[in-house]
Order: sequence, then C-alpha cells, then structure tokens
Amino acid sequence: MRGAPLFPFAATAVLGLLLVFALSLVGLNIGGEEAADENNGAEENNAEEEEFDDPIELGESVYEGQCASCHGGELEGGSGPPLDTGDYDENDIITAIEEGPGSMPADLVEGEEAEAVAEFIISEN
Ligand code: HEC
Repeated sequence: MRGAPLFPFAATAVLGLLLVFALSLVGLNIGGEEAADENNGAEENNAEEEEFDDPIELGESVYEGQCASCHGGELEGGSGPPLDTGDYDENDIITAIEEGPGSMPADLVEGEEAEAVAEFIISEN
C-alpha cells in the first residue's frame, strides 16, 4: 500500500515534461513564421521590385521615373517634345527608347518596361 501513491506523482511529472516539450515546439514554430514574415516585408518595401498587375500602371511609374524630367509630368513636353500629341505609336516610342534620338539617352528602359511605358503614353493620347 505504501508504493501506491507514487504512480500518480510519476505520471504527473511525465505529463509535465511532455507539456514543456510540446510548448517549446510551438514556440520554435512561431519564431520560424515570424522570421519568414520579416523577409516578405523586406521585399515589399523594395520599390525596385514592385509588381504591377496593370501594364499601364507599370508604364506610368516608369514614365515618371525615366521620362517625365524631359517630356513633362503630364506629357506636355519640356527639354524633350510633348508626347500627348498623338504623333507616336507604340513602335515609334519603343524605337525612340532604343535609339535615343538627338539628346535623348538610349536604352533608358527595355523589354517589358519599354512596352509598358509605350502603352501608358498611348493611353494618355
Ligand atoms: C534627357 C532627356 C530625355 C529623357 C529622360 C527622355 N527623353 Fe525622349 N526625347 C528627348 C529629346 C530631346 C527628344 C527629341 C530628340 C530629337 O528628335 O532630336 C526626345 C524624343 C522622344 C520621342 C520622339 C521620337 C521621334 O520619333 O521623334 C519619344 C517617343 C520619346 N522621346 C519618348 C521617351 C520616353 C518613353 C522616355 C522614357 C523612357 C524618354 N523619352 C526619356 C529627351 C528625353
């Protein structure tokens, strides 16, 4: 009879250890997710990597960064000619970007960004 009470104590101790073990696993997991979230945040804050679903929006952002200083914030022109006159189609714009006529620098943007900026300019005409 004297040994009987020991079992419940041992069982409680084992349960307690299991609980501590389980909680530490949960803790590790949460730590891992937080680290992953921080990485995502870093990407979102990087404006260069910004993704646009709409090519016109991408084009507008490229225009403002690369073209507006010479062609005006509203495409009204400046040191470069106005681009809101309907004189240029997509090919003219992409050619101008590639070749850089006159004092316009060549290859300011390329590929998808060049196409997007052309679409944006046409959408404003
Ligand atoms: C450093 C100033 C400058 C920047 C930046 C600039 N341009 Fe120009 N752009 C010019 C000038 C100057 C001309 C006129 C060149 C000429 O014909 O002598 C011109 C001409 C053009 C033309 C007309 C080409 C033609 O066939 O007559 C287009 C279209 C054009 N630019 C688009 C753009 C786009 C799109 C961007 C941004 C990616 C851009 N430009 C950035 C100065 C600039």
